[in-house]
Amino acid sequence: MCGIVGILGKHEVAPIILDALKRLEYRGYDSAGIATVNNGALDRRRAVGKLINLSDLLVHDPLRGKSGIGHTRWATHGGPSVANAHPHQAGRVAVVHNGIIENFRELREELSAEGASFSSQTDTETIAQLAGSLLEKGRSPVEAARETLARLKGAFALAFLFSGEDDLIVCARRGSPLAIGHGEGEMFVGSDALALAPMTDRVTYLEEGDWAIITRSGAQIFDAEGHQTHRPMNRINVEETRVDKSGHRHFMAKEMAEQPAILQAALGFYSGLDHDGIDLPDGLGFAATDRLIMVACGTAYYACQVAKYWFERYAGLPVELDIASEFRYRNPVLGDSNTAIFVSQSGETADTLAALRHVKGQVAQVVSVVNVMTSSIARESDIALPIHAGPEIGVASTKAFTAQLQVLAVLALRAGLDRGHLSEAEFATLLAQLRSVPGYVAQALDREEEIRLLTESLSQARDVLFLGRGVMYPLAQEGALKLKEISYIHAEAYAAGELKHGPIALIDKDLPVIIFAPHDALFEKTVSNMQEVMARQGQVLLISDAQGFADAGEVPTRLQMPAVPEFIAPFIYAVPAQMIAYHTALHRGTDVDQPRNLAKSVTVE
Ligand code: M6R
Repeated sequence: MCGIVGILGKHEVAPIILDALKRLEYRGYDSAGIATVNNGALDRRRAVGKLINLSDLLVHDPLRGKSGIGHTRWATHGGPSVANAHPHQAGRVAVVHNGIIENFRELREELSAEGASFSSQTDTETIAQLAGSLLEKGRSPVEAARETLARLKGAFALAFLFSGEDDLIVCARRGSPLAIGHGEGEMFVGSDALALAPMTDRVTYLEEGDWAIITRSGAQIFDAEGHQTHRPMNRINVEETRVDKSGHRHFMAKEMAEQPAILQAALGFYSGLDHDGIDLPDGLGFAATDRLIMVACGTAYYACQVAKYWFERYAGLPVELDIASEFRYRNPVLGDSNTAIFVSQSGETADTLAALRHVKGQVAQVVSVVNVMTSSIARESDIALPIHAGPEIGVASTKAFTAQLQVLAVLALRAGLDRGHLSEAEFATLLAQLRSVPGYVAQALDREEEIRLLTESLSQARDVLFLGRGVMYPLAQEGALKLKEISYIHAEAYAAGELKHGPIALIDKDLPVIIFAPHDALFEKTVSNMQEVMARQGQVLLISDAQGFADAGEVPTRLQMPAVPEFIAPFIYAVPAQMIAYHTALHRGTDVDQPRNLAKSVTVE
């Protein structure tokens, strides 16, 4: 949720840490801070709000030193304030932290009883106070960090910096990812390889429970039992970590525009143009699976909801689908012929990871569909399938959604074939339809100007209702989520047929109702629901295709999508779901890429 960085460098580190924090700002932007060791003493600067505020502060009040740690925060314990901003310092130690310390109250009471005086409401300050008191009691910096780590409960990634130690950072990973970067006479630590990419392409990922002593000459890594251990060094592809807007106004705009190219290239990893099958990693199969369990959060959950229709229809596979934060707490009944699929862009979502850990050993195979192959979810699953979307920086997930849909579609088709539910001919037809998706998505993206105009009045609304049936119901939910997330307009989605069971009471002349209704088997029924809305003066925007408009009769506002086969319609209707939110947010002047209260990667439960 927060981003952390540490550098033992050859040059002044504050500007380099600031730059690395920019690359981690997607993780949180409630406050930011940097601490350095300057002439043996700890010094720090902290500012509330986005990184730009810290950057301004550093212009007026520079921070010197060649070793330092930095942090960008998504508030958990204690609101956004300078006092609660990291790094937290207690005497001779400063700490940056991502995650939650569950036993912080107990530790705080213990330390307060010993005379410690706390200046923040955070759980993190407890870590600094504990390490600080151990230093006072005569422990060496490494001993103080090690003993502190042994007392902490919870999930976290941490970095410690000490006064009088210009060549030492101690870091630890428990539950939250941490990467060590290797330079020439320099060393780096970061929440992910993205942060380190401009400085080095040689990265070691800490394993769960690891902690490390870092100096400019290298890293000594210890496992959870305290034994010194070796973790492999990986070369990262710096091209894949490029995070610029490529001329677009926002990352979200760039990421929406990238979808046709990404979908085209990513399908090639599963089904090359030179053959007509689908290649999956060895060991992944659905022939013996009696039930699929799908778990995810947010947008990834809606991708699973679409995929449920596909698996049931094209593979005859029963699917149980759950929001990750609910899954573990309802005692799900699991079987050794079940396959569990976890979908996550970041691969670090705490709820999804916890759900994955819950099923391990209880089902036949644990499969993940992820964008970050070095993530915890990818590493802890039996088989990880990449979506190949490239870094997604906008907090609102767009290209990851369609890329997740594509991998799930590939799995559903292959499951259909393996289970004998699809004939070779049906399989070939559906695969050909999947190959046509990028072209249709490009056509949908071409409707941008029309969407921009449509959203002028929408941006004045207080509430918006989204409706859809079948696979369009999750698309309606995705549209409502996007709109809430970046425009702050209250939006709800309903299965169109459910409207008459209560929500219809909301309809009046001021309520915009956006209806996703391609001309498919359910079209007539959705149009009947639309008529019910129009009869009550609801402001309908119908999103459909040419045949849909021919059959729908008079509709106040319409947005035409290309006519496509039913199987691939979710990809195409994802575009208006995203773009309506984007342009509404632009009209309202909200912060599209970094909407309030949110963070890209949610690593707390
Ligand atoms: O990284 P994940 O795919 O696991 O993230 C899941 C959700 O937090 C994420 O999709 C969130 O709902 C997005 N901000 C939606 O745009």
